[in-house]
Amino acid sequence: MILKNLENYAMKLSKSTVFDCSIIDLGKVENRAGNITVVENNGIGPFKVKRIYFLYDVPGGESRGGHAHYELEQYIIAASGSFVVIVDDGVNKRSFYLNRPNMALHIVPGLWRELDGFSAGSICMVLASQEYLETDYIRDYKKFITIK
Ligand code: TYD
Repeated sequence: MILKNLENYAMKLSKSTVFDCSIIDLGKVENRAGNITVVENNGIGPFKVKRIYFLYDVPGGESRGGHAHYELEQYIIAASGSFVVIVDDGVNKRSFYLNRPNMALHIVPGLWRELDGFSAGSICMVLASQEYLETDYIRDYKKFITIK
């Protein structure tokens, strides 16, 4: 059973491509006094959100990410400001400029990602399909390429 699960993960991970990523319009409730964007569990896509975290106070010129995940799926949202997410499947790279709080980038498992070009005061909100698990990370690019 465990072996079967590992095979499934490896299969899923090796087959995913940057073209499986997409921008999802979360919509917004507009009002002259401002906007509201709502994310409800199961409301926007293929996974239930188990964890939310925020990346903020990123110094100018710094980049984040630099890893892939075996299993984790994420929606990445520029809750404030802007930044760039580059995804890489070992063959192709795609770059997404995020600057709208109502737009989410869906990242599937098995893609290397880098985040850079953070504007001052920007907030990167991440909705994740799993709790934090260091063993789900691939932090070595050579290992990532080998697995892919
Ligand atoms: P990491 O995901 O590598 O950050 P980024 O992709 O933004 O560069 O996380 C950096 C560290 O933060 C990691 O070593 C442990 C800690 N961390 C947690 O404890 N829980 C979490 O949910 C996350 C995302 C990170």
